[in-house]
Amino acid sequence: MITLGDDSKTWRTRATLVLKDGYPGLRRAANILKKGGLVAFPTETVYGLGAVWDNPSAIKALYRAKGRPADNPLIVHLAHPLELPLVTRDVPSSAITLIERFWPGPLTLVLPRSPAVPALVCAGLPTVAIRMPAHQTALHLIRAVGRPVVAPSANLSGRPSPTRAWHVLEDLSGKIDAVIHSAACPVGLESTVLDLTGSSPVLLRPGAVTREELSSALGIEIKNAKLSKIPGHPPPAPGMKYRHYSPRAALLLVTGLPGRRLRLMTALARYYQRRGVSVALLKCPPQNVPQSGWYRNYAADLYGSMRRLDRAGTEVIIVEEIGSEGLGEAIMNRLGKAATRVIMA
Ligand code: TXA
Ligand code: MG
Repeated sequence: MITLGDDSKTWRTRATLVLKDGYPGLRRAANILKKGGLVAFPTETVYGLGAVWDNPSAIKALYRAKGRPADNPLIVHLAHPLELPLVTRDVPSSAITLIERFWPGPLTLVLPRSPAVPALVCAGLPTVAIRMPAHQTALHLIRAVGRPVVAPSANLSGRPSPTRAWHVLEDLSGKIDAVIHSAACPVGLESTVLDLTGSSPVLLRPGAVTREELSSALGIEIKNAKLSKIPGHPPPAPGMKYRHYSPRAALLLVTGLPGRRLRLMTALARYYQRRGVSVALLKCPPQNVPQSGWYRNYAADLYGSMRRLDRAGTEVIIVEEIGSEGLGEAIMNRLGKAATRVIMA
C-alpha cells in the first residue's frame, strides 16, 4: 500500500492558468510539467491530468489534487510505441497486433511493469497501464516534455470525466497549475482497458475500441475480468471497486422491456414533478434500433449532459437502458457505475 504522506489533506490554493491550444501554450505547458507541475490536456477520449512519469512528488500532488485513492494506478501516456521499452519489460505478440491496429487510439494495454516505473504510478502492482492517445495536442505535449506523461481523467475522483476545459476548471480550479483549452474531446468516454499479462486477454474497462473489434483483431473471444467473491480480495483493475462518473443528482437507470421502460420512466417523472422535485430524462433513445452514429453522439455528450444537469440544479436524472453491443457496452458500463439505483421495469 502506497501512502501519500501526512500532507495529503492540505491545500495550497493557486491560480490555474488557462493555456491556448497551439505552440506557445504547449511550450509553457511542457515547461510546467518538466518542473513537476500538473497540467490538464485534451485527448480523444477525455481530458487527462498530466504529470511526468518519473517525478514521485508530482505524482503524489496529482493523487491529492484529484482526491484519488492511492491504490488506484495511473495510465502512462506515450508519444510513440518505440517508447514502450522504457515502461514495460515485455511486449507480447498480442500487444503488437493491437498496437499496429489501434494506436494511436482509445486502447490502454496492461503489460508487465519495468523496474524503472515508480511504484506510485502503478500503486505497487507488478503491471503498468499504457496508451498512446490519438490527439495532436496530447502527442505534441508529450513530445515537448520529452518523456512519458501519466494522466488519469482530469476530474475530482468520482465525478464525471471532463470533456471540456471548463469541466476541468469546475473540479480542479486552484488545485492544478494549468489546463489547455481546446475543442471538446471527440470520444467522450475513457479508453478501453485490456489486460495482456495473463494467459488470455481480459477486458477491464469497455471503451470506444469495442470488444468485437478486439476479438476480431486477435481472433479470440475477449473475456471480462472475474470479480473475486472473497472479501478483501483486490479487483483486477483497482478502479473497478469505486463508484464512478457520478453526477450530484440521483441517477435512476431504468432497465427491462422497451414498452414497459417508457411507461415506468413517464410514471417516475410525474411522481417527482408532483412532489416539486426537479427531474430530467437523459437522452431517451428513439424507439427504433439506434445507429452507431447515434451511439457515438450519445457517448460524446454523456458526461457533458450530466454536468449541465448538475449546474441547472436537477435533483433526479432518469435514464434508459440501451443495447450493449459495440460502443453501447461502454455507455452501459458508465451508466451502471453512475447509477444511484437500477430499476427493472
Ligand atoms: O481515456 C483514458 O484512459 C483517460 C485519458 C486521460 O487517457 N484516462 C483515464 O485514466 O481514464 P483513469 O486513471 O481515470 O483510469 C485508469 C483506469 C483505472 O480504472 C485504473 O484502475 C486502471 O485504469 N489501471 C491503471 N493501471 C492499471 C494496472 N496496472 N492494472 C489494472 N488496471 C489499471
Ligand atoms: Mg477516471
